[in-house]
Amino acid sequence: MKILVTGGAGYIGSVVAAELIKAGHQVIVYDNLSRGRRRAVPAEAELVAADMSDRSMLGRTLKYGCPDAVMHFAALIEAGESMEVPERYFRNNVGHTLTLLETMLEHGPRRLVFSSTAAVYGNPRRIPIEESDPVEPANPYGESKVLVERMLAWFNRVHAFRYASLRYFNAAGATPERGEDHRPESHLIPLILQVALGQRDCIAIRGTDYPTRDGTCVRDYIHVLDLANAHSLALQALNQWDCLIYNLGNGQGFTVREVIDVARRITGHAIPSSEAPRRAGDPAVLVASSTKIQRELGWKPQYSDIEYIVRSAWEWHRRNPRGYEP
Ligand SMILES: NC(=O)c1ccc[n+]([C@@H]2O[C@H](COP(=O)([O-])OP(=O)(O)OC[C@H]3O[C@@H](n4cnc5c(N)ncnc54)[C@H](O)[C@@H]3O)[C@@H](O)[C@H]2O)c1
Repeated sequence: MKILVTGGAGYIGSVVAAELIKAGHQVIVYDNLSRGRRRAVPAEAELVAADMSDRSMLGRTLKYGCPDAVMHFAALIEAGESMEVPERYFRNNVGHTLTLLETMLEHGPRRLVFSSTAAVYGNPRRIPIEESDPVEPANPYGESKVLVERMLAWFNRVHAFRYASLRYFNAAGATPERGEDHRPESHLIPLILQVALGQRDCIAIRGTDYPTRDGTCVRDYIHVLDLANAHSLALQALNQWDCLIYNLGNGQGFTVREVIDVARRITGHAIPSSEAPRRAGDPAVLVASSTKIQRELGWKPQYSDIEYIVRSAWEWHRRNPRGYEP
């Protein structure tokens, strides 16, 4: 198949693009490189370096590229930033996604796999979280993803648009070729590894008074290759189904302190930590139930061991201490 990957210069999109190519697909990456890296884009992919707001470039890419499906990763992803400039999140994540959907209606294809998030659930009422649980986002980032899910549901009903919305929990880990290089970085594992690389003095633990086993937040980490595999399965399933929503996590949570301890063992570095106040809007525990996608699509995470996840990230960061910078 030929697949248009928006946001394919970013962390998850670039890994998925590379895996699609390995599986024999053709890939067009569409990314404005605002937060992505040209060097992350697989050499075999065609790169269209343009913004999702550029309706005519999107139109030409769909019309002449003739993809069979779209995987839509392009988005702004910082919950904290979204609390400061919500309008940026609604414009970029919702407004520009509408432009993409309208352009798809005009030129095709009508098949899309969407990157949603655990942030749609806000402060969950129960753990593990199931897809049928209430969607009550606690920040504009999560709300922007909910709004796209709602648009997709209407496009499905009205325009026979087929879609899969994948609600990832904490994406983590790396492949030998690709890893996490967000600027600024806000994700726990790369921040911890920056301490081990001597780029940061210590890791700040934000909140030590949560009602968890050691007072720090519990999160569910999913290896980026397991996410990639779920995308392939979801795309195949759209031959049969027209509207799919799945959580993607390991069903197992680790506290911030536990992740730091794993990183200490793997890197052999003391990784000093400091205690800081809670970050506004951070739920105590976010753990997914992914039994729905396991049952319906046969997805099975292969890299769920937290040691493996952190080790794969460490190997990439050690080899690429400046990320994708030359
Ligand atoms: N990283 C996670 O843990 C996580 C968890 C849940 C959901 N997600 C979702 O997965 C997707 C990918 O996340 P990521 O961590 O790879 O983020 P990322 O920032 O590394 O990648 C996003 C990419 O989208 C591009 N982009 C953003 N706005 C664009 C626009 N207007 N036009 C063209 N390109 C644009 C950026 O340049 C970047 O390359 C996002 O939709 C995010 O919301 C990520």
